[in-house]
Amino acid sequence: MDLFSQIHNAEREELVSLRRELQEANYKYYVENAPTMSDYMFDQKLRRLQDLEALYPDMFDANSPTQKVGSDLIKAKGERLKVKGTEKGKGFEQVAHKYPMLSLSNSYSREEIADWIGKLPKHVEIVCELKYDGLSISLWYEHGVLTKALTRGDGTKGDNVIDNIKTIAAIPQRLSNIGEQGADIGFIELRGEVLLPWAAFERLNKEREVQEEALFANPRNAASGTLKLQDPNEVARRGLDCYLYYMLGDNLPANTHYDRLQIAKAWGFPISDSVKVCHNLEEVMEYIAYWDVERKNLPVATDGIVLKVNNIAQQEELGYTAKSPRWAIAYKFPAEKQLTRLNAITYQVGRTGVVTPVANLEPVQLSGTTVQRATLHNEDFIRQLDIREGDMVWVEKGGEIIPKVIGREEKGERQEAKGEVYTFPTNCPECGAKLVRVEGEAAWRCPNEAGCPPQIKGKMEHFVSRKAMNIDGLGSETIDLLYSQGLLHNIADIYALQQEDIARQERLGDKSAQNMLAGIEQSKQVPWARVLFALGIRMVGETTAKKIARRFPSIDQLQWATMEQLTAIDDVGEQIANNIIAYFNSLSNLEIINRLRQAGVQMESQEEEQQPQSDILQGKSIVVSGVFSRHSRDEYKAMIEAHGGKNVGSVSKKTSFILAGENMGPEKRKKADALGVSMLTEEEFLLMLNNE
Ligand code: IVH
Repeated sequence: MDLFSQIHNAEREELVSLRRELQEANYKYYVENAPTMSDYMFDQKLRRLQDLEALYPDMFDANSPTQKVGSDLIKAKGERLKVKGTEKGKGFEQVAHKYPMLSLSNSYSREEIADWIGKLPKHVEIVCELKYDGLSISLWYEHGVLTKALTRGDGTKGDNVIDNIKTIAAIPQRLSNIGEQGADIGFIELRGEVLLPWAAFERLNKEREVQEEALFANPRNAASGTLKLQDPNEVARRGLDCYLYYMLGDNLPANTHYDRLQIAKAWGFPISDSVKVCHNLEEVMEYIAYWDVERKNLPVATDGIVLKVNNIAQQEELGYTAKSPRWAIAYKFPAEKQLTRLNAITYQVGRTGVVTPVANLEPVQLSGTTVQRATLHNEDFIRQLDIREGDMVWVEKGGEIIPKVIGREEKGERQEAKGEVYTFPTNCPECGAKLVRVEGEAAWRCPNEAGCPPQIKGKMEHFVSRKAMNIDGLGSETIDLLYSQGLLHNIADIYALQQEDIARQERLGDKSAQNMLAGIEQSKQVPWARVLFALGIRMVGETTAKKIARRFPSIDQLQWATMEQLTAIDDVGEQIANNIIAYFNSLSNLEIINRLRQAGVQMESQEEEQQPQSDILQGKSIVVSGVFSRHSRDEYKAMIEAHGGKNVGSVSKKTSFILAGENMGPEKRKKADALGVSMLTEEEFLLMLNNE
């Protein structure tokens, strides 16, 4: 093979592998809300792919990430999807967009922006806007009433998340002040960005930290995860916001983009005050320079500036590519990074015992704040980059709130590095226990759960948190204080606290003591499922705890549960089952449970929760299989138990019947046919229970 053919082959392979890589990155970003690639890296790779596709037109593919917008669609209808970060998405109604929802071509270079402007017709007006960093939404108004709210989806159809959108106060549900201009408008669509403001994002992540749930990397992911929740009350609580930037419809007022936005504003839509009409390159560059600084004072995240041709007729002339309008372009701000000296590496021990190396830095200004500490991720990261104390390192604070070290400066300064080759500590910096590293994990962990201060305090913080025992008046600072005074050693000690012990503390006093004790007293009413969650067994989150509590209505039953019984519960795999078994194997945990029980904490479901509703299914062994639309699979399992039946995992000749949903596995179906086991649809099953 000659050299040219070799290069061509290599480039073709690169093209294919880039497509795969970018498709995967899109999935992680849009569906799992857990990005694996920075936006900058994604854009660079997309550009390379575009160049290669231009070189090899025979390899055109309409499904390439260069031709399609990334899809955030969650599911095939009815299917449940486990989304990383413990958020779970269920089905939403999918609706076809009236007008495709496109993306924007973007650039990180001001020269390219100048080029783009240079190619536009002379004297064209350009509207400059902030590029909000959330997720796009399409709002349908029919005769002035909000009827649908669609996510971008795959660009042609989206998820209708209207119930969640209705929780956003800024979005009008009815247009009351459409004046003359709007008199004959039957249908209009407003597009914009749904955002989680910085303050709400930080609050949410703090809560998630306490609940041991995966943190959202940035407000965009948090907004996206929130909008896909099935629980509008929770969505409302998180506090989303929205800005709109585009009006569509058949019979729209005005013939410029700017005027339409101003009319929309008068109708009550949230339109940003930062929108500005520019008349030449200088004005555009001024706008970019101004907002590059000023955006840091905004309550929401922005990642660039959007430029749009103002005149609608001119927009139409310029038209669209498959992916984006030719009449608009985005200038993206590069993630800010700074070079600074790594003075020392220290360690932080988290609530689950994970030991994270922390860079103590020469203070440096980054995205408007002074940064002195940044994460160094884990041992492998430090070793791979051969980072040592004294090195000059690059620190980045992108969309994330926690700054991170992203690399080491190789040139010049390295000679000054005084540090020695890096070694990770072998013992816990907090309690001295020997650290362990689980195979396949990057993190070192302190195994001394019951004796390591940050782990003990963390367990207590989790126990008192809102979704667990919800004890008002006992926050993390108070726990810190009472722990340091020797009044709290574990969660059971909370119930032994005395008025005078608390009131004696300088920062607390009588009133705080009363509040705290009232909160503690009230927590004795918290139902068993939440108590189980509050115990803080590793990986037993809120939902899993509910499922376990349903199967095991008391702690005494759970204590003796076998691996087999535990893994038969939905969502409980071997790892969680092991954690539960290990929890009950520890004497100190058993002692804590005993003390909690004596204090009056609920260790079993209340009578009425346990009472069977009937015995219609007495003696029946039932297999629940497939996807259901009226109730979840767990709800059906609970119903079976409540009516005296028994849930079994696999089909045998003893199976009384199968409650069969959609997409039941072919193997089960085959076996059922072979054994002559009958199948009931969910409707038939519900009918049977009601007829009782
Ligand atoms: S205009 C056809 N304007 O950025 C018009 N988009 O990277 C397309 N975005 O999908 C959108 N702020 O979600 C427009 N002022 C703004 C925007 C904006 C944020 C988002 C939008 C879009 C993405 C493209």
